[in-house]
Amino acid sequence: MTFRIRPARPEDLSQILRIERLSFPSPWSGEHFQKEFEKPYALFLVAEGEERILGYGCFWLLAGELQIANLAVDPAWRGRGIGEGLLREALCLGRARGAVRALLEVRVGNLSARRLYEKLGFRIEGRRKAYYRDTGEDALLMSLSLTESQENLPCRRGSYITRETRKFE
Ligand SMILES: CC(C)(COP(=O)(O)OP(=O)(O)OC[C@H]1O[C@@H](n2cnc3c(N)ncnc32)[C@H](O)[C@@H]1OP(=O)(O)O)[C@@H](O)C(=O)NCCC(=O)NCCS
Repeated sequence: MTFRIRPARPEDLSQILRIERLSFPSPWSGEHFQKEFEKPYALFLVAEGEERILGYGCFWLLAGELQIANLAVDPAWRGRGIGEGLLREALCLGRARGAVRALLEVRVGNLSARRLYEKLGFRIEGRRKAYYRDTGEDALLMSLSLTESQENLPCRRGSYITRETRKFE
């Protein structure tokens, strides 16, 4: 199956919201996502395939850091390289735009997300006690340097291949 990563468009929002509600105990609202189109520092990407939105990510480029604000894949399409594809693309774009570090917070119990971040080289930097108000769970703060030579993060223009082929606009 082929999927491609492209910038999100307002008409994608209903599909994004469906995935968001299936993915998080405290989902972002439509207004929250709408603001991502207006923030000059935001990078809002979707993965599209089979004529539908399969996943999305919201990333913020602030003060030389790329923050992973949101990332989710349709539950029916998980485990096929789509989350990894979105994250790799954001890291490459962030690095190309001058980010020297990528940062994120993840629930301690979110093992699939933690494995994904570890696979791309993120390391645990700290822990925030009871960070998530909905469940009281701790957050792990993870970071990745984007300045070092990153064999793990090849940024080929135009045709990065994950486990599935993907195309670029
Ligand atoms: C986290 C999430 C985005 C991963 O997306 P995905 O498309 O399913 O992940 P991928 O198929 O790209 O997997 C990439 C790597 O992540 C890890 N991973 C993904 N799912 C995993 C699982 N169920 N168990 C263990 N590791 C997993 C693996 O290291 C995998 O690499 P591998 O297949 O070579 O072992 C997805 O599970 C999701 O949407 N979760 C709910 C929302 C969420 O938690 N977002 C992150 C908030 S911090």
